[in-house]
Amino acid sequence: MGWKTLDDMDLDGKRVLVRVDINVPVADGQVTDTTRIDRIVPTVRDIRAAGGTPILLAHFDRPKGKVVPEMSLGQIVPALEKALGCKVTFLDGNYGAGVAALGQGDVALLENLRFNPGEESNDDGFATRLASLGDVFVNDAFSAAHRAHASTEALARKLPACAGRLMAEELGALDRALGQPDRPVVAVVGGAKVSTKLDLLSNLVEKVDTLIIGGGMANTFLAASGIDVGKSLCEHDLADTARAIAQKAADRGCEILLPRDVVVAREFKAGADNETVKTEDCPADAMILDAGPDSVAHIEQVLERSKTLVWNGPLGAFEIAPFDAATNAAAQSAARLTKAGTLISVAGGGDTVAALNKAGVADDFSYVSTAGGAFLEWMEGKTLPGVAALSD
Ligand code: 3PG
Ligand code: MG
Repeated sequence: MGWKTLDDMDLDGKRVLVRVDINVPVADGQVTDTTRIDRIVPTVRDIRAAGGTPILLAHFDRPKGKVVPEMSLGQIVPALEKALGCKVTFLDGNYGAGVAALGQGDVALLENLRFNPGEESNDDGFATRLASLGDVFVNDAFSAAHRAHASTEALARKLPACAGRLMAEELGALDRALGQPDRPVVAVVGGAKVSTKLDLLSNLVEKVDTLIIGGGMANTFLAASGIDVGKSLCEHDLADTARAIAQKAADRGCEILLPRDVVVAREFKAGADNETVKTEDCPADAMILDAGPDSVAHIEQVLERSKTLVWNGPLGAFEIAPFDAATNAAAQSAARLTKAGTLISVAGGGDTVAALNKAGVADDFSYVSTAGGAFLEWMEGKTLPGVAALSD
């Protein structure tokens, strides 16, 4: 790997600027999911143990270069203090003096960097000002690494820089999944639309042995192969694109798996009357809302003969029961095989983590990424600017 870790740096007596992603969901002033906060704890702990003073840099939501009081990072401080088990000094201005007043081992957090337009424009002057506050830069925000912003990109070039524990863990897990994986490799890609995942599918067919397509996007592939999908969510205008991806897969020896049977309903709502039919028998007035039991059995067979799984996106309308059945069953199979030691399972991307949590198996996967958009861009085979800046 072309980047340094905390172990390669001299942190004793140093002010350590740490880019973290604590862009967490908040409702009524309370953090409703602390996962991203919990996952930065090892980095902050290890910096303090090495004699450093962590100064956390982060964004929250999208204030677009203006001060938006409701988007202050001040509201995250209590959750942060709880996770870290220490006081966090919140600095919302006059950073130079605030940082100078910190004692060795104190932890500080600067106000939402996106209040300054220089953050998102990757402004060199803004990065220089941030750099003046520290001696060393640590990037622990893999989930923001797809953004070329001042605190993720330019800053890494201004100070001795390394990856934090979470960043290193994310990159290691992703490398095991698609970089240097144990084969056969299977990818599960679901979600509503093909249009948002074209580059991802195109990259995956070059890298994996089997590609399982589920969710609304499977309908686009089914329709492109001449199957009537009735009133299902389907991007008919992408039929040529779907056929091109299928052809590329065939050329590369990647098997694409589409649902063999489907659960259909006339209404998109929880508990809607439904029936299971062969995929080619979808009634004209019905919509496909989940993969059926034969499809799930087929997916299980593939998971059983695979050594590595990378998963993004649900297989059906997982947010409304009973159309979460295929997603739950396949996720539980993957979890069982992971626990049995025959499968390395890596998952990521917004809805995916929610789906795995709902299936109760997120803890049983080998690795669940904290990243949404960054995970997708990585699956597309793109170079993430925040990672590239660490490697240069
Ligand atoms: C995320 O939540 O995906 C990251 O924090 C990046 O946020 P952004 O999509 O607003 O850049
Ligand atoms: Mg995002």
